[in-house]
Amino acid sequence: MKWYDVFSEFYDNSLEKLYFESRKRAIELLDIDDKQTILDVACGTGANFRHLKSSNKDFYLYGTDYSSGMLKKSQRLIEKNNWNNISLFKADARMLTLPYLEQCLNEKIRFDRVICVLGLSVIPDWEIVLNNLLELLKKDGKIVIVDVFAEKRDFNTWLVEKIAKADLNRKIWQALKSKTNHFNKEYLPVKESKVGGRLFVAVGTKRG
Ligand SMILES: C[S@@+](CC[C@H](N)C(=O)[O-])C[C@H]1O[C@@H](n2cnc3c(N)ncnc32)[C@H](O)[C@@H]1O
Repeated sequence: MKWYDVFSEFYDNSLEKLYFESRKRAIELLDIDDKQTILDVACGTGANFRHLKSSNKDFYLYGTDYSSGMLKKSQRLIEKNNWNNISLFKADARMLTLPYLEQCLNEKIRFDRVICVLGLSVIPDWEIVLNNLLELLKKDGKIVIVDVFAEKRDFNTWLVEKIAKADLNRKIWQALKSKTNHFNKEYLPVKESKVGGRLFVAVGTKRG
């Protein structure tokens, strides 16, 4: 996680504007309600938090990431805004099974909503992670994934993969489609040259 510890220092300044509208759309699709518990996986610097807060719903949010540097930034953001319905924990998303989650949070919990923005193209063993995340959802719970897929690889794809330590060849939405109900996917209006491929948001609900 050393690279993301370093990246945390300039992540928001480099990327916040680029993804702002896409985050708004992702939160719309997450469709949160009062009293729900939400998990933001690979939450990074907490860039989704203000969009979640702007829903004005009375939810409780757990953010998790494997980089201490990224988590330090998100913790600072929480403190600066006095957000008392968000807490963070450090975890390798590959380990995020129900028993492991119970150890991390000291309680048995499943989530109403799970969101993962630009995480599954970065985390190794993403298919295992996706299965785990579905396991952590309540029945009919909703998962929203934002990520990039490079249909045609070019220099920008290579560059983004280098900078983000990502693999933009992963057909993440296809896996989500095969494992969820009410699947939907849309492309987000961000230039391919800026993100190395097509930015998409995919949503599905957990099967019973
Ligand atoms: C491109 S950033 C996305 C951050 C944030 N979700 C956002 O939308 O800005 C990828 C994130 O994945 C995290 N990450 C990488 N490997 C991970 C792992 N094995 N478990 C959990 N988080 C991981 C990194 O620390 C980083 O915060």
